[in-house]
Amino acid sequence: MLRKKWSLLLSGIMSASLLLTACGGGGGQSAQPSGQTGGQPAASSEAPKNDGQSYVLKAGHSLTEDHPYHLALKKMAEDVDKRSNGKVKIEVYPLSQLGAERELTEALTFGTADMSITSTAPVTNFYQKLGVLDLPFLFESREQAYKVLDGKVGQDMLKDMESANLIGLAWAENGFRHITNGSKDIKKPEDVAGMKIRTQENPIHLAAFEALGAKPTPMAWTEALTALQQGVVDAQENPAIVAQTYKLYESKQTHMALTGHVYSAAMILFSKPVWDKLPADVQQLIAEEAKKAGQYERELMIKMEEEAITNIKGKGVVITEDVDKQAFRDAMKPVYDKFSGQFGKELVDEIMNTK
Ligand code: PAF
Repeated sequence: MLRKKWSLLLSGIMSASLLLTACGGGGGQSAQPSGQTGGQPAASSEAPKNDGQSYVLKAGHSLTEDHPYHLALKKMAEDVDKRSNGKVKIEVYPLSQLGAERELTEALTFGTADMSITSTAPVTNFYQKLGVLDLPFLFESREQAYKVLDGKVGQDMLKDMESANLIGLAWAENGFRHITNGSKDIKKPEDVAGMKIRTQENPIHLAAFEALGAKPTPMAWTEALTALQQGVVDAQENPAIVAQTYKLYESKQTHMALTGHVYSAAMILFSKPVWDKLPADVQQLIAEEAKKAGQYERELMIKMEEEAITNIKGKGVVITEDVDKQAFRDAMKPVYDKFSGQFGKELVDEIMNTK
């Protein structure tokens, strides 16, 4: 049996990425994906013809096996396997085993990793236009976010990511971000002043917390838990499902304030260098199933979010609901003055005016 390795992965578990085996047989039949609107990404005309080989792809993410990121990728893997009659396998690696989000995205751009589901904030380091989504309080509701991301603005972004050597397959969701800390209720910006808080590696998040007078420290999620446990930082911000699945209450996070300061979109990404080596029918299968997986992931997020809040409350976490969001919005306003120009004020207005 001929085995050919196309991707050189970072290390250890990442040592064999896209494997081809000469097993004969073709890819899947075509079916319209339900869920997100918008065209499929390039099943490119230059793609090689299917030569009957089999494919093993590795997909990574940073969360636990009970998080919607994982559940959606596992479902996608099952459906891809079924539709390709076992010729296309996707192996799913949780807990940053293939690298934290920024690292893994970089590996995708080099073609040393195949696929990921990731929040968008670290991806802006490779494709800056995504950064518009990080503006605080840009989205008031997830319905508004879905309209923007599934509409022209979001679909154009997915397509344009090829310019960064990434294939944007589908939107998914990380959720509205809320602040947790180990000591107090947070109701207004003053409550965050001086607080040492872990943020994502993203200049807008950093600027937003600086505008509140906090002391933000950007770091990868893989470092965040230790930093919380050792008191390097006192606080972090993430959706409730992350606080639940990572048991942040065991890392001194006794309070969660429902600030919802950023809607954290997620996306299913593929490496363009690897994609370009896949035959068109395999590309099409993956593109279709990724759209379904993104949609399924969002549905799981909606279902599990309330449960997550109830669950962490049951573990003793104090949930602060009466947050003065307008005061946070006002305090974070300087971020718009600093960054809007970079994305175009028209785009920012178009997104904010989408109802
Ligand atoms: O805070 C982060 O880095 C992200 O929200 C996380 C937890 C890795 C999920 O995408």
